[in-house]
Amino acid sequence: MNHTSAAPRIADLREQLRHHNYRYYVLDDPVIADQEYDRLLQELGQLEAQYPDLVTPDSPTQRVGARPREELGSVRHSVPMLSLESLYSEEEFRRFLERVERETGAEQELVAEPKYDGVAVEIVYHEGVLVSGSTRGNGYVGEEVTDNLRTIRTIPLRLLRAEGAPPIPPVLEARGEVLLPRESFQQLNRARQEAGESLFANPRNAAAGSLRQLDSSITAARPLEMYCYGVGQVEGADFDQEWEIVQALRGWGLRVDRRVELCRSFDQALEFHQRLERERDALPYEIDGVVFKVNDRALQTQMGERSRSPRWAVAYKFPARQATTKLNDISISVGRTGVLTPVALLEPVQIGGVTVSRASLHNIEEVERKDVRIGDTLLVERAGDVIPYVVKPIVEDRAGTERVFHMSDHCPVCGTPVLITPGDPFVRCPSLDCPAQIEGRLSHFAGRSALDIEGLGEKLARQLVETGLVKRLPELYDLTEEKLVALERMGQKSAQNLLQELAKSKRKRPPLARFIHALSIPQIGEHVANLLANHFGTLAALLAATEEDLPAIPGIGPEIARSVHQFLTEPRNQEIIADLLAHGIEPQPVPRALRQDARPLEGKAFVFTGALTGFTREQAAEAVEALGGRITDSVSKKTDYVVVGTDPGSKRGKAEKLGVTLLDEDQFKRLLQQTQASYDLRLPM
Ligand code: IVH
Repeated sequence: MNHTSAAPRIADLREQLRHHNYRYYVLDDPVIADQEYDRLLQELGQLEAQYPDLVTPDSPTQRVGARPREELGSVRHSVPMLSLESLYSEEEFRRFLERVERETGAEQELVAEPKYDGVAVEIVYHEGVLVSGSTRGNGYVGEEVTDNLRTIRTIPLRLLRAEGAPPIPPVLEARGEVLLPRESFQQLNRARQEAGESLFANPRNAAAGSLRQLDSSITAARPLEMYCYGVGQVEGADFDQEWEIVQALRGWGLRVDRRVELCRSFDQALEFHQRLERERDALPYEIDGVVFKVNDRALQTQMGERSRSPRWAVAYKFPARQATTKLNDISISVGRTGVLTPVALLEPVQIGGVTVSRASLHNIEEVERKDVRIGDTLLVERAGDVIPYVVKPIVEDRAGTERVFHMSDHCPVCGTPVLITPGDPFVRCPSLDCPAQIEGRLSHFAGRSALDIEGLGEKLARQLVETGLVKRLPELYDLTEEKLVALERMGQKSAQNLLQELAKSKRKRPPLARFIHALSIPQIGEHVANLLANHFGTLAALLAATEEDLPAIPGIGPEIARSVHQFLTEPRNQEIIADLLAHGIEPQPVPRALRQDARPLEGKAFVFTGALTGFTREQAAEAVEALGGRITDSVSKKTDYVVVGTDPGSKRGKAEKLGVTLLDEDQFKRLLQQTQASYDLRLPM
């Protein structure tokens, strides 16, 4: 490339990099893999090195990142928080070490650390007391997040001095990475999924999102951790070596990874890198490479810095775990509990040494929210042991021929019409004998809280289904010793035991609530099973219930009523229930005297908005609580009822949006009266 052709290429690269910086730093929403970004930056850096007269002060190579968000206060770092040059191969790493040796005249010791995939922060201590904290931001100015950082338990609010540690310096700026351990990340996403909220793409995004909250109580609820790996300005302590720094930080009570090591040769450094890459999946947090730093601080100064990064340190990355690939189609898989999950069928792509060709799209809402279309190019990520995750479509790459995906209205496995519940992003197949579900239903049926058939766990359930011995639930009771001993690892004794257990489950007669629970009706857990049993008393009465009867039961909302009704009116399910009865499973009716036992509003969450005329808020709350319900302040997917008085606030709109049941004062009164009548409670009315 000559000078004339370099100029437009440089302009193009800068434009692209600015765009991606903004997506990454400001929006937390990157559209290319980190590795692709690094390549662009590298190309720009090389061109600028070749044609120095084309370097401008506003080039992305001349600064570290992009602007911080504006809502949080900003902090200027007294020593810039630099970035690191990324290396991707042994060859590149070898060249780095050769350069170090050439410039310093000898092979050098290196401090080797995990390269955490989190959020870089700086915490400042005055006389050992935490006074402020900020994110790296653009390297010069970061966001002030002191209150949020104070919620992280691994950040001491006051330093201590362990035996042998240097005295605590009057001013210490410690640097490190805040991250969300993988397990907490998965928990957080599961909770968000249940609450119908959008999911975080990876632990780094979750950590960044958690740290940049304006309300630190949200941050406090996320189990973030911080690992320290360096310092900014330090007054009152001198360090000759990088290694001394990490030891001192640890000695002052800051968390330093025990995996940090001092490497004395190229081979040792390489071995560290290989070992960490092998351990990568087993680590509790995400890392994307190893950071190597020249240990000798005087030599660090001698080697100096480029504008963005030091010349004495590098990040030797692991193979990327993100890639872009084409979405060929979306298929629907049916899980054990009957949930229909859209699955992305991808053009096979290598991600971190594994070929990825499928990824879950979770549910139809997720597909719609991300606006994933068949034919799109998708950014896909493989984070640790997590199944591949579709980050987003690259909208910029659309040709206009992409197709919008529609969820099927029949179960693709058994053809039963699916169950769609307003407010629930999951579409379900309600059929009891759907082959896709039989395995899960079988082990659930036999579980402790259901028919309690000892010895019939997930493993045996799988064997029974795979060998074709049980294709429908009632066939469980057609098993014989002869059929069972044919199974792998099934001796005569265990076969006899199982048959005895099965016989016992008939003889004992399951209480009605357990029998209902055992059927795996979508959205029906033990609690609702109890409510149904207590209300109807007998299986016959439950089977005869109309869709209108169900929501009249205190504690049962319209969604659950619909699910129960749809399940019980599905002919295949009715057949299965009849078959179970014919095989001698006879649920015990609930004795009349016991039917009123349960607290009818147990587990139900109420929110009030607007003024009530018949009673005060306190009286209304008391009445709900006396029946087992609870009052919460804000409306969420978990709210069961919103009671709307006069001049309601924004909660009403929110409830409507989320599909939460609204009750006006009259309906609320009726609900209380109905329950009160049968429970003989004296409520203020
Ligand atoms: S040291 C002068 N050490 O990597 C050295 N950085 O690309 C500057 N990072 O913003 C950084 N683990 O977010 C260092 N053990 C580690 C690190 C690490 C992760 C991140 C940090 C920084 C980025 C630089």
